Amino acid sequence: MLKPQNKKASVLALCGKGGVGKTSLSATIVKILSSDSDNKVLAIDADPAVGLSTALGIDVTKTVDDIRNELIRRVESGKTTDKMEMLSMLDYEMLSAMKENNNIAFLAIGRPEKEGCYCQVNHILKDLIVSMADNFDFVVIDGEAGIEQVNRRVMEKVTHLILVSDASAKGLNVAKTIKKVSDTAIEYEKTGLILNRLRSKDEYEKLVIPAELDCLGWVPEDDTIRSFDIEGKSILEIKDSPAIKSVKNCLSEIGIRVSLKREKTEEKTDNRNRKSAVALTG
Ligand SMILES: Nc1ncnc2c1ncn2[C@@H]1O[C@H](COP(=O)(O)OP(=O)(O)OP(=O)(O)O)[C@@H](O)[C@H]1O
Ligand SMILES: [Mg+2]
Repeated sequence: MLKPQNKKASVLALCGKGGVGKTSLSATIVKILSSDSDNKVLAIDADPAVGLSTALGIDVTKTVDDIRNELIRRVESGKTTDKMEMLSMLDYEMLSAMKENNNIAFLAIGRPEKEGCYCQVNHILKDLIVSMADNFDFVVIDGEAGIEQVNRRVMEKVTHLILVSDASAKGLNVAKTIKKVSDTAIEYEKTGLILNRLRSKDEYEKLVIPAELDCLGWVPEDDTIRSFDIEGKSILEIKDSPAIKSVKNCLSEIGIRVSLKREKTEEKTDNRNRKSAVALTG
Protein backbone atom coordinates (compact mmCIF):
# COMPACT_ATOMS: atom_id res chain seq x y z
CA MET A 1 0.00 0.00 0.00
CA LEU A 2 2.90 2.38 0.61
CA LYS A 3 3.33 4.86 -2.20
CA PRO A 4 6.68 4.58 -3.96
CA GLN A 5 7.24 8.30 -4.43
CA ASN A 6 7.89 10.69 -1.55
CA LYS A 7 4.96 13.07 -1.42
CA LYS A 8 4.29 15.67 1.22
CA ALA A 9 1.25 14.64 3.23
CA SER A 10 -1.35 17.04 4.54
CA VAL A 11 -1.18 16.53 8.30
CA LEU A 12 -4.41 17.28 10.17
CA ALA A 13 -4.25 17.38 13.97
CA LEU A 14 -7.48 17.57 16.00
CA CYS A 15 -7.23 19.13 19.44
CA GLY A 16 -9.71 20.40 22.00
CA LYS A 17 -11.14 19.96 25.48
CA GLY A 18 -11.85 16.45 26.74
CA GLY A 19 -15.07 14.91 25.46
CA VAL A 20 -15.90 17.49 22.75
CA GLY A 21 -15.71 14.97 19.91
CA LYS A 22 -12.07 14.87 18.72
CA THR A 23 -12.12 11.10 18.22
CA SER A 24 -15.53 11.04 16.49
CA LEU A 25 -14.53 13.85 14.14
CA SER A 26 -11.07 12.33 13.47
CA ALA A 27 -12.73 9.05 12.48
CA THR A 28 -15.26 10.94 10.34
CA ILE A 29 -12.44 12.81 8.59
CA VAL A 30 -10.60 9.51 7.95
CA LYS A 31 -13.83 8.12 6.49
CA ILE A 32 -14.32 11.14 4.22
CA LEU A 33 -10.72 11.30 3.00
CA SER A 34 -10.45 7.56 2.42
CA SER A 35 -13.71 7.47 0.45
CA ASP A 36 -11.54 8.37 -2.54
CA SER A 37 -9.64 5.13 -3.05
CA ASP A 38 -6.75 7.09 -4.59
CA ASN A 39 -6.08 8.71 -1.21
CA LYS A 40 -3.74 6.96 1.20
CA VAL A 41 -4.68 7.97 4.73
CA LEU A 42 -2.66 7.41 7.90
CA ALA A 43 -4.71 7.70 11.11
CA ILE A 44 -2.66 8.31 14.24
CA ASP A 45 -4.14 7.87 17.69
CA ALA A 46 -2.20 10.11 20.05
CA ASP A 47 -4.58 9.50 22.93
CA PRO A 48 -3.33 6.92 25.48
CA ALA A 49 -6.90 5.60 25.76
CA VAL A 50 -6.72 4.59 22.03
CA GLY A 51 -10.32 5.57 21.25
CA LEU A 52 -9.69 6.15 17.54
CA SER A 53 -8.97 2.46 16.97
CA THR A 54 -12.47 1.57 18.21
CA ALA A 55 -14.04 4.36 16.17
CA LEU A 56 -12.31 2.90 13.08
CA GLY A 57 -12.91 -0.74 14.02
CA ILE A 58 -9.18 -1.53 14.30
CA ASP A 59 -7.57 -3.84 16.86
CA VAL A 60 -4.42 -2.39 18.39
CA THR A 61 -1.78 -5.02 19.09
CA LYS A 62 1.28 -2.80 19.46
CA THR A 63 1.75 0.90 20.18
CA VAL A 64 4.75 3.15 19.57
CA ASP A 65 5.14 3.25 23.35
CA ASP A 66 5.42 -0.59 23.43
CA ILE A 67 8.22 -0.38 20.85
CA ARG A 68 9.96 2.32 22.83
CA ASN A 69 9.76 0.35 26.07
CA GLU A 70 11.03 -2.83 24.43
CA LEU A 71 14.01 -0.96 22.99
CA ILE A 72 14.80 0.59 26.36
CA ARG A 73 14.64 -2.87 27.98
CA ARG A 74 17.04 -4.24 25.36
CA VAL A 75 19.49 -1.36 25.81
CA GLU A 76 19.35 -1.62 29.60
CA SER A 77 19.91 -5.38 29.58
CA GLY A 78 22.86 -4.95 27.18
CA LYS A 79 21.14 -6.84 24.33
CA THR A 80 21.19 -3.88 21.94
CA THR A 81 24.11 -1.49 21.84
CA ASP A 82 24.81 -1.02 18.16
CA LYS A 83 23.13 2.09 16.79
CA MET A 84 22.50 0.65 13.32
CA GLU A 85 20.98 -2.47 14.85
CA MET A 86 18.79 -0.28 17.03
CA LEU A 87 17.63 1.79 14.05
CA SER A 88 16.79 -1.20 11.89
CA MET A 89 14.91 -2.80 14.78
CA LEU A 90 12.87 0.38 15.29
CA ASP A 91 12.17 0.69 11.59
CA TYR A 92 10.93 -2.90 11.42
CA GLU A 93 8.87 -2.64 14.61
CA MET A 94 7.21 0.61 13.53
CA LEU A 95 6.11 -0.93 10.26
CA SER A 96 4.78 -3.97 12.09
CA ALA A 97 2.82 -1.74 14.51
CA MET A 98 1.06 -0.07 11.59
CA LYS A 99 -2.30 -1.70 10.84
CA GLU A 100 -3.47 -1.48 7.24
CA ASN A 101 -6.97 -1.78 5.87
CA ASN A 102 -7.31 -0.94 2.14
CA ASN A 103 -6.21 2.67 1.78
CA ILE A 104 -6.21 3.40 5.54
CA ALA A 105 -3.27 2.74 7.83
CA PHE A 106 -3.39 3.14 11.59
CA LEU A 107 -0.77 3.80 14.24
CA ALA A 108 -1.35 4.12 18.01
CA ILE A 109 1.13 6.14 20.04
CA GLY A 110 0.24 4.70 23.47
CA ARG A 111 0.97 6.14 26.88
CA PRO A 112 3.01 9.31 27.38
CA GLU A 113 6.61 8.59 28.27
CA LYS A 114 8.26 9.63 31.51
CA GLU A 115 9.50 13.21 31.30
CA GLY A 116 13.09 13.73 30.30
CA CYS A 117 13.87 10.07 29.69
CA TYR A 118 15.46 8.58 26.59
CA CYS A 119 15.18 11.69 24.46
CA GLN A 120 17.25 10.08 21.72
CA VAL A 121 14.81 7.20 21.33
CA ASN A 122 11.89 9.60 21.27
CA HIS A 123 13.51 11.66 18.54
CA ILE A 124 14.23 8.60 16.44
CA LEU A 125 10.63 7.43 16.82
CA LYS A 126 9.32 10.84 15.78
CA ASP A 127 11.66 10.88 12.77
CA LEU A 128 10.33 7.46 11.80
CA ILE A 129 6.72 8.65 12.06
CA VAL A 130 7.57 11.66 9.87
CA SER A 131 9.23 9.48 7.23
CA MET A 132 6.29 7.04 7.32
CA ALA A 133 3.91 9.99 6.85
CA ASP A 134 5.67 10.86 3.58
CA ASN A 135 4.10 7.76 2.05
CA PHE A 136 0.58 9.06 2.56
CA ASP A 137 -1.60 11.79 1.11
CA PHE A 138 -3.22 12.59 4.45
CA VAL A 139 -2.30 12.05 8.08
CA VAL A 140 -5.09 12.52 10.63
CA ILE A 141 -3.97 12.82 14.26
CA ASP A 142 -6.48 12.40 17.07
CA GLY A 143 -4.71 14.55 19.64
CA GLU A 144 -5.07 14.72 23.35
CA ALA A 145 -6.37 18.00 24.70
CA GLY A 146 -3.37 20.14 23.72
CA ILE A 147 -1.05 20.39 20.76
CA GLU A 148 2.07 20.02 22.95
CA GLN A 149 1.66 16.26 23.23
CA VAL A 150 1.26 15.93 19.47
CA ASN A 151 4.35 18.07 19.09
CA ARG A 152 6.36 16.05 21.60
CA ARG A 153 5.15 12.54 20.82
CA VAL A 154 4.05 12.43 17.19
CA MET A 155 5.50 15.11 14.92
CA GLU A 156 6.56 18.71 15.15
CA LYS A 157 4.92 20.04 12.02
CA VAL A 158 1.25 19.81 11.19
CA THR A 159 -0.29 21.46 8.14
CA HIS A 160 -3.87 21.80 9.40
CA LEU A 161 -4.55 22.41 13.08
CA ILE A 162 -8.22 21.68 13.69
CA LEU A 163 -9.62 22.90 16.98
CA VAL A 164 -12.74 21.16 18.19
CA SER A 165 -15.24 22.53 20.71
CA ASP A 166 -18.80 22.01 21.75
CA ALA A 167 -21.03 25.01 22.44
CA SER A 168 -19.73 25.43 26.00
CA ALA A 169 -17.72 28.43 27.14
CA LYS A 170 -15.20 25.98 28.65
CA GLY A 171 -14.73 24.20 25.33
CA LEU A 172 -14.23 27.48 23.48
CA ASN A 173 -11.79 28.73 26.10
CA VAL A 174 -9.69 25.58 25.77
CA ALA A 175 -9.70 26.01 21.97
CA LYS A 176 -8.56 29.62 22.43
CA THR A 177 -5.72 28.53 24.72
CA ILE A 178 -4.59 25.78 22.34
CA LYS A 179 -4.54 28.27 19.47
CA LYS A 180 -2.49 30.71 21.56
CA VAL A 181 0.05 28.05 22.56
CA SER A 182 0.22 26.72 18.98
CA ASP A 183 0.97 30.15 17.54
CA THR A 184 4.29 30.19 19.40
CA ALA A 185 5.05 26.49 19.92
CA ILE A 186 4.41 24.74 16.62
CA GLU A 187 4.56 25.15 12.90
CA TYR A 188 1.23 24.96 11.08
CA GLU A 189 -0.11 26.29 7.80
CA LYS A 190 -3.83 26.58 8.45
CA THR A 191 -6.09 26.43 11.45
CA GLY A 192 -9.80 26.52 12.13
CA LEU A 193 -12.47 25.67 14.66
CA ILE A 194 -15.17 23.02 14.26
CA LEU A 195 -18.13 23.40 16.60
CA ASN A 196 -19.49 19.97 17.40
CA ARG A 197 -22.79 18.67 18.75
CA LEU A 198 -24.80 21.82 18.15
CA ARG A 199 -28.55 21.43 18.38
CA SER A 200 -29.59 23.86 15.64
CA LYS A 201 -28.51 26.60 13.28
CA ASP A 202 -30.13 28.98 15.72
CA GLU A 203 -27.85 27.77 18.52
CA TYR A 204 -24.87 28.26 16.21
CA GLU A 205 -25.88 31.77 15.23
CA LYS A 206 -26.32 32.82 18.84
CA LEU A 207 -22.90 31.57 19.90
CA VAL A 208 -20.23 34.14 20.60
CA ILE A 209 -17.13 32.68 18.98
CA PRO A 210 -13.79 34.19 20.11
CA ALA A 211 -12.54 36.52 17.36
CA GLU A 212 -9.15 34.81 17.11
CA LEU A 213 -10.74 31.48 16.15
CA ASP A 214 -11.62 31.06 12.46
CA CYS A 215 -14.79 28.99 12.51
CA LEU A 216 -14.95 26.37 9.76
CA GLY A 217 -18.53 25.41 10.54
CA TRP A 218 -20.66 23.38 12.86
CA VAL A 219 -21.57 19.73 13.18
CA PRO A 220 -25.00 18.82 14.52
CA GLU A 221 -25.80 16.44 17.32
CA ASP A 222 -26.11 13.25 15.28
CA ASP A 223 -27.85 10.13 16.56
CA THR A 224 -25.92 7.90 14.15
CA ILE A 225 -22.56 8.98 15.61
CA ARG A 226 -23.90 8.50 19.11
CA SER A 227 -25.43 5.08 18.52
CA PHE A 228 -22.38 3.77 16.62
CA ASP A 229 -20.27 4.81 19.60
CA ILE A 230 -22.62 3.13 22.07
CA GLU A 231 -22.53 -0.10 20.05
CA GLY A 232 -18.76 0.14 19.48
CA LYS A 233 -19.27 0.12 15.69
CA SER A 234 -16.82 1.63 13.22
CA ILE A 235 -17.64 5.09 11.90
CA LEU A 236 -16.32 3.83 8.55
CA GLU A 237 -19.54 1.80 8.26
CA ILE A 238 -21.85 4.83 8.41
CA LYS A 239 -23.35 5.28 4.96
CA ASP A 240 -24.22 8.93 5.27
CA SER A 241 -25.32 11.23 8.05
CA PRO A 242 -25.76 14.95 8.78
CA ALA A 243 -22.45 14.96 10.69
CA ILE A 244 -20.54 13.56 7.72
CA LYS A 245 -21.98 16.23 5.38
CA SER A 246 -21.06 18.97 7.85
CA VAL A 247 -17.53 17.70 8.41
CA LYS A 248 -17.05 17.61 4.61
CA ASN A 249 -18.03 21.27 4.48
CA CYS A 250 -15.64 22.12 7.32
CA LEU A 251 -12.81 20.36 5.47
CA SER A 252 -13.63 22.32 2.37
CA GLU A 253 -13.43 25.56 4.39
CA ILE A 254 -9.91 24.71 5.51
CA GLY A 255 -8.88 23.94 1.94
CA ILE A 256 -9.47 20.21 1.64
CA ARG A 257 -12.30 19.59 -0.75
CA VAL A 258 -14.00 16.26 -1.22
CA SER A 259 -16.49 16.27 -4.05
CA LEU A 260 -19.79 14.72 -3.00
CA LYS A 261 -20.27 13.17 -6.45
CA ARG A 262 -16.91 11.81 -7.41
CA GLU A 263 -15.43 11.65 -3.91
CA LYS A 264 -12.23 13.17 -5.24
CA THR A 265 -10.14 15.41 -3.02
CA GLU A 266 -8.31 18.47 -4.15
CA GLU A 267 -6.54 21.20 -2.23
CA LYS A 268 -8.16 24.57 -2.79
CA THR A 269 -5.61 27.14 -3.90
CA ASP A 270 -5.61 29.31 -0.82
CA ASN A 271 -8.06 29.57 2.00
CA ARG A 272 -5.74 31.25 4.43
CA ASN A 273 -7.44 34.61 4.48
CA ARG A 274 -11.00 33.42 4.82
CA LYS A 275 -12.42 34.64 8.04
CA SER A 276 -16.13 34.25 8.42
CA ALA A 277 -18.05 31.28 9.68
CA VAL A 278 -20.23 29.38 7.26
CA ALA A 279 -23.72 28.14 7.83
CA LEU A 280 -23.90 24.51 6.90
CA THR A 281 -26.73 22.47 5.59
CA GLY A 282 -26.37 20.10 8.55
N1 LIG B 1 -21.77 15.10 16.45
C1 LIG B 1 -22.05 14.24 17.43
N2 LIG B 1 -23.33 13.82 17.63
C2 LIG B 1 -23.65 12.97 18.62
N3 LIG B 1 -22.75 12.47 19.49
C3 LIG B 1 -21.47 12.85 19.34
C4 LIG B 1 -21.04 13.74 18.31
N4 LIG B 1 -19.71 13.91 18.43
C5 LIG B 1 -19.32 13.18 19.47
N5 LIG B 1 -20.36 12.55 20.03
C6 LIG B 1 -20.35 11.68 21.23
O1 LIG B 1 -19.74 12.41 22.28
C7 LIG B 1 -18.95 11.57 23.09
C8 LIG B 1 -17.52 12.12 23.15
O2 LIG B 1 -16.99 12.08 21.83
P1 LIG B 1 -15.48 11.70 21.56
O3 LIG B 1 -15.08 10.47 22.27
O4 LIG B 1 -15.31 11.74 20.09
O5 LIG B 1 -14.77 12.95 22.25
P2 LIG B 1 -13.21 13.18 22.54
O6 LIG B 1 -12.99 14.66 22.43
O7 LIG B 1 -12.40 12.32 21.67
O8 LIG B 1 -13.11 12.71 24.05
P3 LIG B 1 -11.76 12.44 24.90
O9 LIG B 1 -11.22 13.78 25.23
O10 LIG B 1 -12.27 11.70 26.10
O11 LIG B 1 -10.85 11.63 24.02
C9 LIG B 1 -19.05 10.18 22.49
O12 LIG B 1 -20.04 9.47 23.17
C10 LIG B 1 -19.51 10.44 21.06
O13 LIG B 1 -20.28 9.39 20.52
MG1 LIG C 1 -10.89 10.90 22.16
